[in-house]
Amino acid sequence: MSLTHLSLGDFRNIEALSFDPSPDINIIYGANGSGKTSLLEAIYFLSHGKSFRTNKHKILIRHEQARCVVHAKKQIHNLSIPVGISKDSAGETKLKIQGQSSRKMSELAQLIPVQVITPESYELFFGGPKERRKFLDLGVFHVEHAFFNAWRNFNKILKQRNALLKSRPSNYAEQIKYWDREYVRLADEINIHRKAYISRFEALFFDKIVCQIPIFSGLELRYDAGWKDCLASQLEQQFERDVKLGYTSKGPHKADFSFYSQGHAVENILSRGQLKLLLYALKVAQNSLIESETDKQSILLIDDLPSELGEETMQSVSALLALCRSQLFITAITAESISAVVEPMQRACSMFHVKHGSLITK
Ligand SMILES: Nc1ncnc2c1ncn2[C@@H]1O[C@H](COP(=O)(O)OP(=O)(O)OP(=O)(O)O)[C@@H](O)[C@H]1O
Ligand SMILES: [Mg+2]
Repeated sequence: MSLTHLSLGDFRNIEALSFDPSPDINIIYGANGSGKTSLLEAIYFLSHGKSFRTNKHKILIRHEQARCVVHAKKQIHNLSIPVGISKDSAGETKLKIQGQSSRKMSELAQLIPVQVITPESYELFFGGPKERRKFLDLGVFHVEHAFFNAWRNFNKILKQRNALLKSRPSNYAEQIKYWDREYVRLADEINIHRKAYISRFEALFFDKIVCQIPIFSGLELRYDAGWKDCLASQLEQQFERDVKLGYTSKGPHKADFSFYSQGHAVENILSRGQLKLLLYALKVAQNSLIESETDKQSILLIDDLPSELGEETMQSVSALLALCRSQLFITAITAESISAVVEPMQRACSMFHVKHGSLITK
């Protein structure tokens, strides 16, 4: 159910590296600049086709090399599935699943659910809605199988609608009206999938996870679909405004969610440490839901876990992580600095020491 083998080539500062991770906990430790985050980034890249820290693909390729490559074996029940991804400096991505070339990143993503937590991830609560939508849609993608097609087709129509709003050919109003029926149908479908996912997410998050952490009592999730009531009439009402803006202001591409604690937005009331804990709770809940609904083991990458976490918060993080059966890859400068998180979990743990982009075997 886990990644049983990983090998990287010319990825960031890593020239060539291979290892067999544990299905439970993997600690990646080493000095600053040794390649710990790069290793996590490679696992993320395998599932998402991009990095979690940059949009510039070229920077993932080791300096002066032509392409970066990540290969892995994913165990699903009693099948070991070889998968691979490479990207060259021109931006061309090649995918392989079980020896066959594939053009669909979604096939690889479906096989390997990967989430990441970095010291900056708690900005999810402060930043714009894009990152929150990304978080939500990752779960919806894995659990609601019809979502991806609806989302992909919706985006094609949205792109077309926005192009018409921007270029305004002579009959643009009629053309937009023609496409709006399908726009509304797909928007409603996306919203139904998101709401179905959220209601199952809420049940797990509040009943199994949040209840373990007293500071989160009274927490509430509010979902915004991206429009209110009837989308068709909102599109009509907003039409003149959208023409001026040159893009569509109502629809599922504007969806968002927020958390409230005792009636206040969490970002205004919780401390940084508490927000970090809430973020762990969200990621653990999401992985647990994916695991229970798809029977696939998810992967959780945690970069620089000890950063800014006090002892008590570390204990709470440990209790939260113990609630999911995800394969964990955790980085830290020293292995000792996370023993307070790892030891109480009583799961098998493998240690990997990274130095100058290589694994040190003792
Ligand atoms: N494309 C690249 N080619 C070669 N080296 C690179 C490339 N991109 C980044 N590096 C180098 O890779 C090294 C490893 O970076 P990484 O961020 O993985 O380190 P780290 O172990 O996570 O360090 P820290 O503990 O400071 O977070 C750094 O020295 C960085 O300068
Ligand atoms: Mg790092």
